[in-house]
Amino acid sequence: MTDTSAHKPDFAALRNQFPILSREVNGKPLVYLDSAASSQKPQLVLDAVHAAYAETYSNVHRGLHFLSEASTDAYEAVRGKVANLLGAPSHDEVIFTSGATMSLNLIAQCHGPLVVGEGDEILITVAEHHANIVPWQMLAQRVGAKVVAAPVGKDGSFDIELFKTYINSRTKLIALPHVSNVLGTVFPITELSEIARNAGASFVVDGCQGCIHMPVDMAALGCDFYVFSGHKLYGPSGIGVLWGRAELLAEMPPFMGGGDMIDVVEIERSTYAAPPHRFEAGTPPIVEVIGLGAAIDFVQSIGMDHIYQHEAALIAYGHERLADVKGLNFIGEADGKSGVISFTLDAAHPHDISTLIDQDGVAIRAGHHCAQPLMTFFDVSSTARASIGLYSQESDFDVLATSLEKVNRIFG
Ligand code: ALA
Repeated sequence: MTDTSAHKPDFAALRNQFPILSREVNGKPLVYLDSAASSQKPQLVLDAVHAAYAETYSNVHRGLHFLSEASTDAYEAVRGKVANLLGAPSHDEVIFTSGATMSLNLIAQCHGPLVVGEGDEILITVAEHHANIVPWQMLAQRVGAKVVAAPVGKDGSFDIELFKTYINSRTKLIALPHVSNVLGTVFPITELSEIARNAGASFVVDGCQGCIHMPVDMAALGCDFYVFSGHKLYGPSGIGVLWGRAELLAEMPPFMGGGDMIDVVEIERSTYAAPPHRFEAGTPPIVEVIGLGAAIDFVQSIGMDHIYQHEAALIAYGHERLADVKGLNFIGEADGKSGVISFTLDAAHPHDISTLIDQDGVAIRAGHHCAQPLMTFFDVSSTARASIGLYSQESDFDVLATSLEKVNRIFG
């Protein structure tokens, strides 16, 4: 939540901190428009990962020697950085996982059965990533509950009044995205938290495409759980975060058993450590956590509010620029949308678009984006998706638009 940068950053200069952005692909300068799938990494993160292995590496929480203590200190310090990024009251509410998918599965398996029972409903929307659908289906099958999905508007907008009509006395858990990974729609989490609270339902937010693009504050958002992946926040892959309210984490049983999550172990029974360690069995992703810490330092030195403004202007420019491409149809045009521009082209299948524009060095994602129910809702098998990061620039959309015109000429 804390931003240390008071001055407007030079985003063009910041690009130079990402070594990969200066490479060529197929003989053309790389135009990386696939940041929603995974973002590129600044030198600072690469250096932090290198230093963690080269200078302080050892296992954490297990040794009394210098390196183990240095590694443990560096690892545990990141909990505080994450808590600060999220505006969370305590670093003990921050659990490290392998990614947002694991975070959501952990909530579904450990919190789910405490609140969802036979005949109950779990409410999502059609705009969920599979990671915010399948774990709830597994929970529903386990306890005899049902997953219910509310629709979105045909322009990708979210109608909160319509959503409310899907809530009833059986609704025990609501799980929504902060930002849709296909539509870019920003969900009104603060209002939804109040609705969930009034309904007596737990509220889980998939923040994968949220906290990477805008400042967040758990107290203001008011949800019960918020998850994200480090690799989308300019950090390493293999590290994710689960933030949960302390009182909810305290009553949850462990997800996995093993070393580091216990208090006392006997042959017949064990007692468990308090959160967050209760949920971190085994050797954790030590260096990935340290890399995530460096990534958080990086974005906070720029300022999440600055990143938000820069990217909002870029998404507006991208829409304007792509609107000129013949036969291009946007999927998701909600006001205030963030991060992604999904589209189809009358002339070509999204897979063909992606393959052809790759020849111009342009990287986008094409497919169902792990959101098959949303594809069904929009009656398409797949879309093309351009997505941005803080290093993206207007010229990326200029190159994309020119390359798409070429696709039109080839297929036209
Ligand atoms: N969830 C990531 C995406 O939307 C992988 O591409």
